[in-house]
Amino acid sequence: MVAGKALAIDEFATAIAQWQRAAGRNNLPWQNSHDPYRIWLSEIMLQQTQVSTAIGYYERFLKRFPTVQALAQATQDEVMPYWAGLGYYARARNLHQCAREICETHGGQFPHEAEQIMQLPGIGRSTAAAIAAFAYGKRDPIMDGNVKRVFTRYFGIFGDPATRATERRLWETAQKVLDAAPPDLDMTAYTQGLMDLGASLCSRGQPNCAACPLAASCYACVESRQADLPVRKRKKQVEERECAMLILQSDGRILLERRPSRGIWGGLWSLPQYDDAHALRETCRNMGLTADDTCRMAGLRHTFSHFKLNIEPWHVEAGATVLAEPRTDQAWIAIRDLASAALPAPVRKILAGLFQAAA
Ligand code: ADE
Repeated sequence: MVAGKALAIDEFATAIAQWQRAAGRNNLPWQNSHDPYRIWLSEIMLQQTQVSTAIGYYERFLKRFPTVQALAQATQDEVMPYWAGLGYYARARNLHQCAREICETHGGQFPHEAEQIMQLPGIGRSTAAAIAAFAYGKRDPIMDGNVKRVFTRYFGIFGDPATRATERRLWETAQKVLDAAPPDLDMTAYTQGLMDLGASLCSRGQPNCAACPLAASCYACVESRQADLPVRKRKKQVEERECAMLILQSDGRILLERRPSRGIWGGLWSLPQYDDAHALRETCRNMGLTADDTCRMAGLRHTFSHFKLNIEPWHVEAGATVLAEPRTDQAWIAIRDLASAALPAPVRKILAGLFQAAA
């Protein structure tokens, strides 16, 4: 048991806001601004990306697309290179779509209410509430993965947070906390504080309860049940898939294919992909290439959220004779231009192993 005064429910939010101002993250590039465009961009990037990784992407993106209008006027091809390597590319496509919607149907102004913000593409309830709190000081609850950990531990909620019933209970609890909090609650500090607490002191392994402002009345801390909360969902067997990728090099260029906009790496440029090496070699033979022209490279495994992909790359050096007109979804890209192409991270890794210029 950590010494200290147990909190009443109406003190929970104030305690978090106070702690955030003193010990939370207060100098990230998207903070100390009420510009909804910057806040929205940062929240989308942070949905599945760590703060330390997001910072560089955020700054490059904002420099190239400084306003929602600039983003709306760009093509998807112009946007994707600024997201390449971050993963979850639907986020970038939705971001672009959302910018167009804001310009076309909201007169270039971000809506002010979370209820309206969550109607926009790629923005769920929690992200909408975070944007509304940071940009306009609105008072709506958030509930992301880190915040679920804080709430399940503090309130002793033992249901699996991935189930609808527990999710509903968590949202209701978060709303009750806000209803009980004083009317002058600093929503920016409270919202950021929940995220910061979940990402720092209230971590999954070895939480630092000694430094936590909620410890004296936290169910998990008082009962020493930190390791049992949140309840872990049963592990699914992750599916593994295989593929072969063709690095067709000719005359200082590489053949790339644009991925269909739905599905993995949608909108990015990737290497021609085959179900197996047999299908890849068949394609090479049809181009008049022989086994001597092909060289199998070290394999690579990439983990997606719901499956693993084992990639077997094949490098083929072909003479200029294979340079037939590529299909409309293909392009020959000069090796020296690979660095600025919108490539998925594992494809960049494969190419960087062969060509310094792709790194
Ligand atoms: N994750 C999602 N939003 C965040 C934010 N504003 N700060 C830190 N991590 C976050």
